[in-house]
Amino acid sequence: MMVQRGACVIFGGPTKRRGPLTMHAIPELLPSAGTPEFGGERLAYHSIAELVADRAPDHSVVCLRPAAVEAAARHLTSLFPGDVLYAVKCNPHPRVLQALYRGGVRHFDTASLAEVKLVRGLLGRQAAAYFNHPVKARAAIAEASERHGVRHFVVDSEGELHKVAETASGPFEIAVRMATPPGEAVQHMSSKFGASPAEAAQLLRTAAAMGLPVGIAFHVGSQCRDPNDYARALGLAAQVRDTAGVPVGTINVGGGFPAWYLGDDVPPLEAFTDRIAEGVREFGFDDSRLQCEPGRALVASGGSILTQVQLRKGRALYINDGIFGNLCEMVYLKLRLPLRTHRAGGGGLPGPDSEFTLFGPTCDPVDVLPGVWALPEGIQEGDWIEFGQIGAYSSAIATSFNGFTSEAIVDVAEQPFWPGQRAAGEHLRIA
Ligand SMILES: Cc1ncc(COP(=O)(O)O)c(C=O)c1O
Repeated sequence: MMVQRGACVIFGGPTKRRGPLTMHAIPELLPSAGTPEFGGERLAYHSIAELVADRAPDHSVVCLRPAAVEAAARHLTSLFPGDVLYAVKCNPHPRVLQALYRGGVRHFDTASLAEVKLVRGLLGRQAAAYFNHPVKARAAIAEASERHGVRHFVVDSEGELHKVAETASGPFEIAVRMATPPGEAVQHMSSKFGASPAEAAQLLRTAAAMGLPVGIAFHVGSQCRDPNDYARALGLAAQVRDTAGVPVGTINVGGGFPAWYLGDDVPPLEAFTDRIAEGVREFGFDDSRLQCEPGRALVASGGSILTQVQLRKGRALYINDGIFGNLCEMVYLKLRLPLRTHRAGGGGLPGPDSEFTLFGPTCDPVDVLPGVWALPEGIQEGDWIEFGQIGAYSSAIATSFNGFTSEAIVDVAEQPFWPGQRAAGEHLRIA
């Protein structure tokens, strides 16, 4: 790794220029091969304005803010009264995992063998990998336990319990994933996974009878707005524990902690961690090991996507990323993202705000961003629109449909942007 004094820090590329930028160097934790970089170079900038000035990118660019990820990790690990397991699926980029590690995260929810290998390869045995997907291939269970030392498995059915019991090697714990009723989350998760209370109690009894240490896990749903959802789920877990009549070593309250999006004024994380701590006491889980499994709340603010206007047709702007790419969660979860504009040479874009429709790059007519957007009247081909709060799921889900991919990832040192800072050329979606 090469760290230079310069507005632009290049890893494996030619020397670049001006101004100090300090990167935390973790030489033993280098990104894995195959990570899309900027033409093979690893770039870091102080700001998006510098990226625009340096490269004038004509493809979309994922802009990681590792410092924001690290700060979010530090914040949640200091608030949560138990182990914080990061849900790797949310954003598996190596520099995101490294930033979380620097922020104090030592436990990782890995849903596939590929994620197990990623965590092990990048962070080694100092990071614990939990195979917390309720459906796993036998070969994956065997390899995860034998070769990668995975000691924690989630099940929500008799079939999976027997599969893990027959296949895993070494001492291991079984956590039973319990379904929870819909609450105030944007995306309910128990329509796909989770045993009913009666089934969960039976699974706990069966696993305990096999001599296995057991725990209970649940997920109240992604982007949850109500801390009481966790307390209600803890109450249900207590009923399951009492029905089963076996000692429950671990209680995993899952992910679902909300991130900030436009128009979604969610309670602060403290409201969730305090309510969970209260619920733990209220429902008698003080002697169980407490875990949570967040994704979104840790990494949403750690990424933005820089897109370029390829064509203006009246009030329609055609940009080079869309709903099949990094802006997919606008459709999946109907999230509203903050945005701001950039122009070559710096300075704001001319004109008062007008209403625009934003089309993605593919030929598919559904590739249009929901709503109408307020952008400066003078916006034209070649200007850039940056969308914030896309660190969670977006780049992990993005497809290369129609040959459109975000070909580059850069690190950016500046803070995530918020609509409160509107003076700097930021614009809100207005409908
Ligand atoms: C099992 C499990 N745990 C944790 C998470 C992370 O959830 P969130 O990003 O809402 O915190 C997910 C998300 O899909 C999940 O499936």
